[in-house]
Amino acid sequence: MKVGVLTGGGDCPGLNAVIRAVVRKGHQEYGCEFVGFKDGWRGAVEGRTVPLDIPAVRGILPRGGTILGSSRTNPFKTENGVRDIRDNLAKYEVDALIAIGGEDTLGVAARLHEEYGIPCVGVPKTIDNDLSATDYTFGFDTAVGIATEAIDRLHTTAESHMRVLVVEVMGRHAGWIALHSGLAGGANVILIPEQRFDVDQVCAWVTSRFKASYAPIVVVAEGAMPKDGDMVLKDGTKDSFGHVRLSGVGEWLAKEIEERTGKEARTTVLGHIQRGGTPSAFDRWLATRFGLHAIDAVHEGDFGKMVALKGTDIIRVPIADATAKLKTVDPALYTEVGVFFG
Ligand code: F6P
Repeated sequence: MKVGVLTGGGDCPGLNAVIRAVVRKGHQEYGCEFVGFKDGWRGAVEGRTVPLDIPAVRGILPRGGTILGSSRTNPFKTENGVRDIRDNLAKYEVDALIAIGGEDTLGVAARLHEEYGIPCVGVPKTIDNDLSATDYTFGFDTAVGIATEAIDRLHTTAESHMRVLVVEVMGRHAGWIALHSGLAGGANVILIPEQRFDVDQVCAWVTSRFKASYAPIVVVAEGAMPKDGDMVLKDGTKDSFGHVRLSGVGEWLAKEIEERTGKEARTTVLGHIQRGGTPSAFDRWLATRFGLHAIDAVHEGDFGKMVALKGTDIIRVPIADATAKLKTVDPALYTEVGVFFG
């Protein structure tokens, strides 16, 4: 059996661990051959491949990024995209495809399987942790670790200057990174997209923190929105899946805090640092197990499925279940951490 593998969407730590596990088990236990499609769906559309054998995956477990490259190409928005994918799968004699990606990449895999009968298995990745049907996506734990370390560091410099430090983290329309890193890093305010925030309330928390002789750290998710107003964006450009590129709320909020409280406020935008570098041990563990179970699904011909984490078990769910609805932060969970605000 020949299996195609691709990684799509924003990269994240652990992609290489999945690829390695798929190839190692597929080759050793099932005698599979592999071909890697370069740069996500773009490589499948354009027929650009890389050899994927045991030597190609040696030593890649701790490496960030993806040896296959990635892109946000949407074949359904590319002229003859689906036809070209089918032609290329035939050309390279690919019997099944493993798509490692988030909402967009897996949404394409689900449609290719449902509408065109292309045998696909999905693996959930994203630092945002916003995919339904899985308790966690790999990449999230590493991103939270990086953001938490940044918050720890910002505490000490904020204290030295007694200024407000606003930290903008990624996560798109889900507040998971902000919530987990903000709690772990002891932030005084955490703002998430799921709950619009009141700038006056934020300023009250900031002021009360100064009264206790500490400098406040405000963690704001890039998708968080003020109560009265629109999403704050540095630039409103969109990617090929139609998503607006987020970022800008951190800068805006620091200015508002400074004007309203008279305290100096600065912003750190963590940006792609949260996606780069070596995966945490948890992400290597999760990504590896996802890879092992994905090749099992291929071997058993269980297509249209995505591997998912439920408790400590890896299960299979329809890919469409993971992409139908964003997994966002429950209001009760947000309320729970509110005891630390101010
Ligand atoms: O989905 C992962 C993510 O890092 C989001 O948190 C962020 O909004 C987006 O990707 C950034 O995308 P890009 O790297 O294309 O700018």
